[in-house]
Amino acid sequence: MLHIDGVEAGYGTGKVLLGVNLEAPSGQVTAVIGRNGVGKTTTLKAILGILPLAAGKVSLDNMDLSHKQVHEIVRSGIGYVPEGRQIFPTLTVLENLRVGQRRPPRIWTEDRLLELFPNLRERASNLGRALSGGEQQMLAIARALVTDVKVLMLDEPTQGLAPKVVDQIGDVIRRLKAEGVAVLLVEQNLNLTENVADRVLVMSKGKIVETVGIESFRSNGEEIRHRWLTI
Ligand SMILES: Nc1ncnc2c1ncn2[C@@H]1O[C@H](COP(=O)(O)OP(=O)(O)OP(=O)(O)O)[C@@H](O)[C@H]1O
Ligand SMILES: [Mg+2]
Repeated sequence: MLHIDGVEAGYGTGKVLLGVNLEAPSGQVTAVIGRNGVGKTTTLKAILGILPLAAGKVSLDNMDLSHKQVHEIVRSGIGYVPEGRQIFPTLTVLENLRVGQRRPPRIWTEDRLLELFPNLRERASNLGRALSGGEQQMLAIARALVTDVKVLMLDEPTQGLAPKVVDQIGDVIRRLKAEGVAVLLVEQNLNLTENVADRVLVMSKGKIVETVGIESFRSNGEEIRHRWLTI
């Protein structure tokens, strides 16, 4: 379980996160929604150690990760798929996967990854740049898994993808959840959120302001959308 407690962080002297509290339990999908610029991506960067914490604590299964280096945080089992799926365009699919490995994965071996992403198996020797947007996103997720992640953080994974591909990403997220991964999903696509999330956290102005169970989100989605997402 990932625990974030009172986290404050920002860029230079400007604080963006003003005390973020959240939990992402194993085997669950925790979604974070909120208007543009409220600090969703910044939260993921603070968890990963890309941004230093000005206050607060990040811990994974009672291991304190606050103020650790990014590589230590990644090694402890936190995977990150940034917005815009940054894969290596001039490496093949298999090479992209191998670049991310520090040691042979125990949980997400190449075989299991290619079973989870059959499209990637078909395209194993294609260059990254030859893949469709959806395939690139699948590859970005697969690459994050090779470090045997306990927590997978996804930043708007369905942005710009066709509805059919969004469904495939949804299937992958459900499968990871069934494997016991704690998924922390930042997503603007509320249909996908409704389909995969267990809990929805609403972020506003650098804080989590509401935690909504999925049943309640399904029945009150319109009201939540109106209150927290419309401009
Ligand atoms: N590299 C940066 N340097 C300075 N300010 C930044 C930087 N990145 C983001 N910000 C600012 O921090 C605030 C939060 O940005 P963040 O990217 O976390 O928002 P977000 O909730 O992910 O928004 P979106 O839905 O648009 O992705 C914004 O005001 C943004 O302008
Ligand atoms: Mg963002």
